[in-house]
Amino acid sequence: MRFVKGEIWLQKKGAYAIIKNSMEKCTKAGYNELIVKGKCLNGQNYFLNGRIQNMRMTKKVTAMALASMMALSLAGCGGSSSTTATTAAATEAAKETTAAATEAAKEAATTAAAAAATTDVADKKVGISIYKFDDNFMTLYRTELVRYLTEDLGFKAENVVVQDGKGDQAEQTNQIQNFITQKYDVLILNLVQASSAPEITDMCKEAGIPVVYINREPDATEEERWESEGLNATYVGCDARQSGTYQGEEILETANKGDINSDGKVSYIMIQGDPENVDAQYRTEFSVKALTDAGMEVEELLKQRGDWDQAKAQQIAQDALNQYGDKIEVIFCNNDAMALGALQAIEAAGRKVNEDIYLVGVDALTEAVQNVIDGKQTGTVFNNHFAQAQAASDIAVKFLSGEKVDAVNMVNYEKVTKDNAQEILDMLK
Ligand code: BGC
Repeated sequence: MRFVKGEIWLQKKGAYAIIKNSMEKCTKAGYNELIVKGKCLNGQNYFLNGRIQNMRMTKKVTAMALASMMALSLAGCGGSSSTTATTAAATEAAKETTAAATEAAKEAATTAAAAAATTDVADKKVGISIYKFDDNFMTLYRTELVRYLTEDLGFKAENVVVQDGKGDQAEQTNQIQNFITQKYDVLILNLVQASSAPEITDMCKEAGIPVVYINREPDATEEERWESEGLNATYVGCDARQSGTYQGEEILETANKGDINSDGKVSYIMIQGDPENVDAQYRTEFSVKALTDAGMEVEELLKQRGDWDQAKAQQIAQDALNQYGDKIEVIFCNNDAMALGALQAIEAAGRKVNEDIYLVGVDALTEAVQNVIDGKQTGTVFNNHFAQAQAASDIAVKFLSGEKVDAVNMVNYEKVTKDNAQEILDMLK
């Protein structure tokens, strides 16, 4: 499989991307720009899992940034043989949304590096608020945000301020108000409650400060309002329907499609994140939908909120294993932190993942990916925090340079099973 654009060509060869010819021209920022301009001329999707060859890399992290941008930029191009089936199994709606939105993210990123090069960001102030620091996934995400803004885009470290919303919307709203009073130039916000977006957007609009929402998606009415009223507000994230579908497919890909005891149905428990979060809602719905769409009968033994939290999930799984015992064939967790908790309970109950119970999560935390390799977790889904953090930062720069920004910018998820877990782990490390 080979894609051609100008002087750059990419070839899928195992998990390697080989980039040729334009090396001399590539500056750090230019890498992204050149890559995101690449087109899949044969309509095939290109999934990048890894390493860059034949290119002078000063740091591993630069390779990682490039890899993320490529995953982002090429996400909308079609489907590789291994991903065609999975994409086909996703709902039409999810497909359309993802394709349209990844296109938007692609375009945003295409000009971002150029914008960063022309916009003087040295004295611009970025205010970031994370819904709570005590969240494994958002910790990875905010680390990459700060790294990318300062190291790759040239913001001064003292001008990138990250606040902890501590899971309290009132407290977070105050922090945002302070950013506004102190005349920050752009805000990147991971809201405690996505339903607060209209109020926060209006506060930012009054002050003339653009806002990039991340991770917790405001509802469609609010996103449409940004478009119709021409507000400088946008969302960067992933379509959680895709991650749910991938979880379901990972169960379908097991030898017995999740029906370990051959009673004609898949009996599962669902450990949910914070149900106000659309990621939790969609993962819950679409993981099971993938099974029923494939003709499997399902039985929900329990659905309980674990608030994305490992300890809570451990307790929920422990209680469920006590109550339902061998009846439980699958434990769906809306994220990996909770899958790690569920695994502790599974092991304490003397059960064996992939033998008498299946376990799936989302995020691709390194510990969870290692568990997939070791056969202690059936699968996970890579929630690409690198690509999301970089897209959010690039879009912030677009706002600063006065460019138009689309309301929704989506990054693709990637399935992680035993087949590719080592590659994903190598990339994460
Ligand atoms: C991640 C969770 C995280 C949540 C925070 C989700 O996309 O999968 O791990 O806790 O975002 O909002």
